[in-house]
Amino acid sequence: MKSPVRVTITGAAGQIGYQLAFRIASGQMLGNDQPVILQLLEISSAIKALEGVAMELDDCAFKALSSVIITDNVDVAFKDSNYAFLVGAKPRGPGMERKDLLQANAKIFSVQGKSINTHANRDIRVLVIGNPANTNALITSMNAPNINIGNFTAMTRLDHNRAIAQLAKKCGQHISSISRVIIWGNHSATQYPDIHHAIVSGKPAIEKFDREWLTSNFIPVVQQRGASIINARGSSSAASAASAAIDHMHDWILGTPDDDWVSMGIPSNGSYGIKPGIIFSYPVRCINGGYEIIENLEINNFSKKLILASEIELREERAAIEELL
Ligand code: NAD
Ligand code: LMR
Repeated sequence: MKSPVRVTITGAAGQIGYQLAFRIASGQMLGNDQPVILQLLEISSAIKALEGVAMELDDCAFKALSSVIITDNVDVAFKDSNYAFLVGAKPRGPGMERKDLLQANAKIFSVQGKSINTHANRDIRVLVIGNPANTNALITSMNAPNINIGNFTAMTRLDHNRAIAQLAKKCGQHISSISRVIIWGNHSATQYPDIHHAIVSGKPAIEKFDREWLTSNFIPVVQQRGASIINARGSSSAASAASAAIDHMHDWILGTPDDDWVSMGIPSNGSYGIKPGIIFSYPVRCINGGYEIIENLEINNFSKKLILASEIELREERAAIEELL
């Protein structure tokens, strides 16, 4: 057996946390031969509920679960942590945009960034899920200057998976026949789901569809999928969000297939004209525990306009919380 790794989940008694903890403990993130110590954080008023989660984790008798720490102390939750899922934050309700949560949630991430900076393992990998995820990831990273900024990421994998699912449905193909979709930009209604480089059963996807389907159907359906789920369920996506979070961390650590890529919100570095200073979703290949942007893709004017719109929104979000950076 390998030595255990420490995995932090914030907001662990919430909707997503309740899914995530069990999937990680059952070995779906790192494999059944990698023991994990779960470090579960909640606000004080939710500790009783979190005790219930810990009891259920015990009752699963998971082979890969080494131990469970439950706490309302952020420093305990991040102590020596190797992997962190930053979920704990308010979700939006019907009629809201994710950026409407910025003022309510932003401070959580400055506090947690500072704690990570002092207490976490120096090689911690962080995935921010709490909305607005990109800008919250930026806040976390800027408050943790002693940790490599590249180790802070935001979740756009749910959008990536949604895009694959929509494409597969439209083509009447299994999802395994789809590769190389891209989510550019923000996890928001300005995100740009791009299929100009996607492959369906070995052939370019773009050749199968007209611009009308892209602009009136595919793009808005993916952009608005979170809102559609809120309208249907009365609360935001949870099981699919936890599943995407597992996919994101699994692929980051264990790698992506040679002929495919994934979308991750990562610090912008000038690639595709997006200057540094925001967390932007790019197509990436994961290898040896790291990731690299897929460079030199041809971007047409249609795509350029949509990518720019998402960049502008992220810079506006950044300006709104500048005092926390
Ligand atoms: P939820 O309300 O069910 O759970 C959130 C939990 O966080 C609650 O239990 C709450 O007590 C806890 N919490 C609040 N402040 C905290 C803090 N400072 N420290 C630790 N815990 C804290 O919400 P949810 O449905 O699990 O969603 C959580 C967040 O994830 C929301 O912001 C939601 O919008 C976001 N989300 C993002 C994506 C994505 O794709 N990036 C997908 C789905 C949901
Ligand atoms: C989602 O995309 O499902 C989440 O970000 C929740 C939301 O507010 O839409």
